[in-house]
Amino acid sequence: MDQAKIEELKALRERARLGGGPDRIASQHKAGKLTAWERLELLLDPGSFIELGRFVRHRATEFGMAERVAYGDGAVAGLGEVGGRRVAVYAQDFTFMGGSVGEMHARKIAALIEMAMKLGIPVIGLNDSGGARIQEGVDALKGYGEIFYANVLASGVVPQIVAIMGPCAGGAVYSPALADFVIMVRKTSYMFITGPKVVKAATGEDVTFEELGGADVHASKSGVAHFVVDNDREALDLIKRLLSYLPSNNVEDPPYVETGDDPYREDEALNSIVPDDPEEPYDVKEVIYRVFDRGSFLEVHEHFAPNAVVGFARLGGYVVGVVANQPAYMAGALDINSSDKIARFVEFCDAFNIPIVTLVDVPGFLPGTVQEHGGVIRHGAKIIYAYASSTVPKITVILRKAYGGAYIALGSKHLGADVAFAWPSAEIAVMGPEGAVEVIYRDTIAAAKPEEREELVRKFVKEYREKVTTPYFAAGRGYVDDVIMPSETRKVLFQTLSFLLSKRERKQNPPKKHGVPPV
Ligand code: HXC
Repeated sequence: MDQAKIEELKALRERARLGGGPDRIASQHKAGKLTAWERLELLLDPGSFIELGRFVRHRATEFGMAERVAYGDGAVAGLGEVGGRRVAVYAQDFTFMGGSVGEMHARKIAALIEMAMKLGIPVIGLNDSGGARIQEGVDALKGYGEIFYANVLASGVVPQIVAIMGPCAGGAVYSPALADFVIMVRKTSYMFITGPKVVKAATGEDVTFEELGGADVHASKSGVAHFVVDNDREALDLIKRLLSYLPSNNVEDPPYVETGDDPYREDEALNSIVPDDPEEPYDVKEVIYRVFDRGSFLEVHEHFAPNAVVGFARLGGYVVGVVANQPAYMAGALDINSSDKIARFVEFCDAFNIPIVTLVDVPGFLPGTVQEHGGVIRHGAKIIYAYASSTVPKITVILRKAYGGAYIALGSKHLGADVAFAWPSAEIAVMGPEGAVEVIYRDTIAAAKPEEREELVRKFVKEYREKVTTPYFAAGRGYVDDVIMPSETRKVLFQTLSFLLSKRERKQNPPKKHGVPPV
């Protein structure tokens, strides 16, 4: 072949890698960010990347666009491997026109998601973009529409993970919002529908980028971000760790890993973890750390609605999704945000064949006008919907309180849990003994002498606790399959999971186009 052609290709490839040019690359570094290519090199196994659409260019001509062309159009997309796992990945290149999304840029991303669905491999997005390319008008909006459409069709087919590593503004936020997991980088990333300037004009409110849509805000307040990290490298490492828990698609099982932690290991400390006083808090993460394979718990939504804890863990090497109440925060009561957090996690686990282990210690739903007017009824209903419609193996352990609607919602057998256990400290009833006694014995207590009332209430509470809330009452009905020693929880869960893994009832629900979940 003509050597000049070889040289030409080399030069073009080099130019494509340069994106917006050396100055822009320097600015990117100065801002504390890596470039799209550097990010891909850190994420992917060396030599595994197959780039797709390397020479794609936009076809806009107005507003000086004819002169502003870069191969790749500000997006690097392709197929590669992460720890030997195949993935589809794209990285937006902020050095070319601020990573803005034009028609062709968008087409590359949408086509990649479509490809991932065909191949049954996860999609990873590394977002760093000023949003819809203003010069391209409706063509840019069409592009976003195509990305969203692909995101929605891929939902529940292949896992979608998006790391926000720069700006993500306007309608652009909806692609990550449609993905399964959003990671945000502190200080360099932000997400909002309208920026501080528009907010000021519309509401008069003064707010910084960070306060309006920084990583910590979305990780703790809005719940938009599932994970928050300090820099690009941490974000890429987290993607690798997260992937290790996920199957590549909805017909595969999640990856088994030999963890070296004896699944039959017993833990005496669990016998004394629940305080004698039912009102006293304890940290449910301590239970999680002791029960599941050592060091295997990856918490999702750690800073959002900490009254519930969700995340992935391994049990004897098998991946499980863990859902727990956190008595150390708001006594573990369920509210609007924790309902959303739990429901979404359960939906994800079910879509991707990840068994669910639920650890219950819940006094009920949080009372009050803020919650009621905020729609705790429809948000709480999401938990019920998610558990009842899921068909993966589900095991529930009631550690302490399991009261009222929250008992039913959190993986009770009545909503389809396969097996339910209780610790001897479990209290299962319509409401706590104090509340129950006030209702049942209202007249008796009112008729008693004032100085005798306290003693009387104590007696009734004790009686109610012994007769009704005791786990042996629920076990007597078969709603709890066994009352187990806390110390043997790991062993019992592993043995049960081993049987449930052969559960094949993915089509047990009545045929329908789809349900109408409470949103
Ligand atoms: C075209 C864009 C752009 C965009 C940035 N650039 N965003 N070009 N369309 N949306 C260009 C800049 O003009 C600049 O070009 C280069 O990228 C680098 O941007 P800087 O402003 O120098 O960078 P920085 O100071 O870091 O600021 C980043 C930024 C800012 C905060 C993102 O660029 C900005 O506010 N951009 C506009 C954001 C925006 O309003 N987007 C539309 C959102 S609405 P030069 O010429 O200097 O190289 C939306 C709707 C989507 O996205 C709807 C989907 C349904």
